[in-house]
This record gives sequence, C-alpha cells and structure tokens, in this order.
Amino acid sequence: NHFRLAVIPGDGIGEEVINEGLRVIDHLSKTSNKFTFESDYFPWGCEYYLENGKMMAEDGLEQIKNHDAIYFGAVGYPSVPDHISLWGLRLAICQGFDQWANIRPVEFLPGIEGKLNHPNKEELNWVLVRENTEGEYSGVGGRNFTGRGPGKEVAVQSSIFTEEGCERVIRHAFELALTRKRKKVTSVTKSNAQQHGMVLWDEVFERVSKDYPKVETDKWLVDAMAARFVLHPEELEVVVASNLHADILSDLGSALAGSLGIAPSANLHLDGRFPSMFESVHGSAPDIAGKGIANPIGTIGSAALMLEHLGHTEEAQLINDAIRSTTKSGILTADVGGSSTTKEVTDSIISHISKR
Ligand code: NAI
Ligand code: MG
Repeated sequence: NHFRLAVIPGDGIGEEVINEGLRVIDHLSKTSNKFTFESDYFPWGCEYYLENGKMMAEDGLEQIKNHDAIYFGAVGYPSVPDHISLWGLRLAICQGFDQWANIRPVEFLPGIEGKLNHPNKEELNWVLVRENTEGEYSGVGGRNFTGRGPGKEVAVQSSIFTEEGCERVIRHAFELALTRKRKKVTSVTKSNAQQHGMVLWDEVFERVSKDYPKVETDKWLVDAMAARFVLHPEELEVVVASNLHADILSDLGSALAGSLGIAPSANLHLDGRFPSMFESVHGSAPDIAGKGIANPIGTIGSAALMLEHLGHTEEAQLINDAIRSTTKSGILTADVGGSSTTKEVTDSIISHISKR
C-alpha cells in the first residue's frame, strides 16, 4: 500500500498547517506499518501568480492527475484578487477533476467550548454534503451586457443545476446516511424563491429518497435551516445542499463547533478517473499567517478523511481519536481559547497516536 500524494500548500497558513498534517501522516505510516507514501510538492498559489501570471502551471491538472490524492492547504492572499486565486487553483481542481461531492463533517470536540448551547453536543454527528461542481458556482454569466456607461452596469451570475449533478450528490448523501447512527438526510434549498434549479433539486431528492426507505428525510429552506442549526441541532445528521448554501452552512457549523480552524473536508471524485482532494474548510488567514498559531486540526482531520478514502479506516480513526484526546487535555490554539502553538497541538496529536 504505497500512495503518491500531490501536496499543494498554497498561501498564508496553508503552508503552516499542511506541514503539520504531513508530520502526522508520516508518523502514522512509520508506526502502523500499514502504508507508505511519497509527496510531490507543487508551489502553486498567489506568489506563483505574481511571478507567472497564473495560479498554477499551464499543464497543472495533467501533472497531478495520476496521484492517488491531493492534499491542499489554502489559497488566497491580499496581493491577488480573491476571485482570481480561487478560480485559478481550488475551483480549477475541483471542477477540472469533477470532484462533485464535498464532504464536510462538523464535530463538537471535547474541551472546545464553541458557540452552541446544547447539553449533549459531543454526541452530535453532523456532516454536510455539498454539491461541488455546479449550482451557484458554475461560473456562467458575464458583465456589461448592456454596454451602458458607468453606474449602469448589468452583471449576470447564473446557477446551473443538472438532473445528473443533483442526483449523484443526493444519492451519495443517502449512502452516507446508511453508514451512520440515525440514518437521516436533510435537504436544503431555496426552492420557494428560486423556482427552476432548486425545484429540480427538490424533485430529484423526492425521487432518490424512494430508493432508501430506511433513511429518514427532511427538507428545509436555507434561511430556516440556518436558524435550525442553532435552535434544533439534535435534528441534524447528514445535510445535503447546493454549492453556495452548503458553503455558508458549513462555516456556520464550524463556528458553532468552535472555529473554522477545526473543520476538515474532502472533495471527492467517485468515478475513478481523477484524484480526490483533501483540505481544511478555512482559507489562508492572512491575519495570523507566519505567527505559528494557526489551528492545524482542520488540516490534520482532512488527512484522516484522505486515509479513509484510500482505504485506511483504522488509521483515520487513530487520527480522529488523537485529535479528541488533544483537545480534551486542553492543548488548544488561540482560536479555540488556548495558548498553544500550531506545532504543540500537532506534537500532542502525534504523541496520542503513539500511545495507542
Ligand atoms: P479565512 O478562513 O482565511 O479566515 C477567517 C477567520 O478565521 C480569520 O480571522 C482567521 O484568522 C480565522 N482562521 C481561519 N483558519 C484558522 C485556523 N486554522 N486557525 C486559527 N484561525 C483560523 O477566511 P477569509 O479571511 O475570508 O479569507 C482569507 C483568504 O482565504 C481569502 O483570500 C479567501 O479567498 C481565501 N479562502 C480560501 C479558501 C480555500 O482555500 N479553500 C476558503 C476560504 C477563503
Ligand atoms: Mg467557504
């Protein structure tokens, strides 16, 4: 079991946290003897852009398409407009490799207070399933259609919902629910106001749900859902939503759990042609970059998702257990109320893995 990882640290804290994740994977590889791996680094991101006028190499996708997985830090820095950095790298990979399911677990870790007021929150077991290739982020549209002068510009930003696109991600949410305790899928749209694409989504959800009689279903509008996250957290397990809605809800989820810094994610391509990509949910955090205080848990948790995807469920579980032991013992970075450094948190996670 040998893996070739394409490692893209990116910008800001991306590089700081990705190195911590690799330290954990390396430790696990040596102590478990279950897998070996090699990493190829790709220095793409905003600095690369300032030198080369593009966010990644021209044949970038070609260079990484035969790797077993992509391990990604974060992209974006004030020196380059965000829409250029995001579309030039992260979205280019997600869409180019048809990574249509973005899996974002939200875990309430012991020792982290978070913002959710709920007695048994450590038992909550949420996972957001985000449509990751179309919807509101399809990129379709343009500016200045009318050619009218300054102050009169018209911009169009369209969403694309395809029946196949909706079906594959909704079906995946049901499959995921089957593996979990409660077996419940909640679908989120705004189909009262957006009467074309989101009504199609509703219809597909209805149809697919018939194939999963054992799975409980529920349907909410996104605004009501945002309130529900806070007011009825015990009602949620697997939540499936469009690209934009799930993007927003997952930041809400991670804030409730304590910090953007602890949220992991997987961008899955599940049809065998391309590699999947694993990254924390947060961005490059320019406000804390270079200080050594970024929370590495989101990126280390993403390594667990990566190992699970590569067939190493037990090793993934070792990482997740070690994360829990670490937060429980109060070794926390500043974003979750502690004073430990990035490196100290990782060291603790590594030492807990060794104890097993
Ligand atoms: P951000 O996620 O970088 O930061 C938001 C806030 O959370 C900041 O106060 C930051 O210090 C804090 N934070 C984030 N991750 C943290 C961690 N691991 N430990 C401790 N604190 C953490 O989002 P922001 O500021 O909106 O965007 C900054 C840049 O990142 C922009 O260029 C944006 O486009 C990009 N971005 C990239 C993403 C990606 O690569 N997947 C996702 C989101 C934003
Ligand atoms: Mg986001």
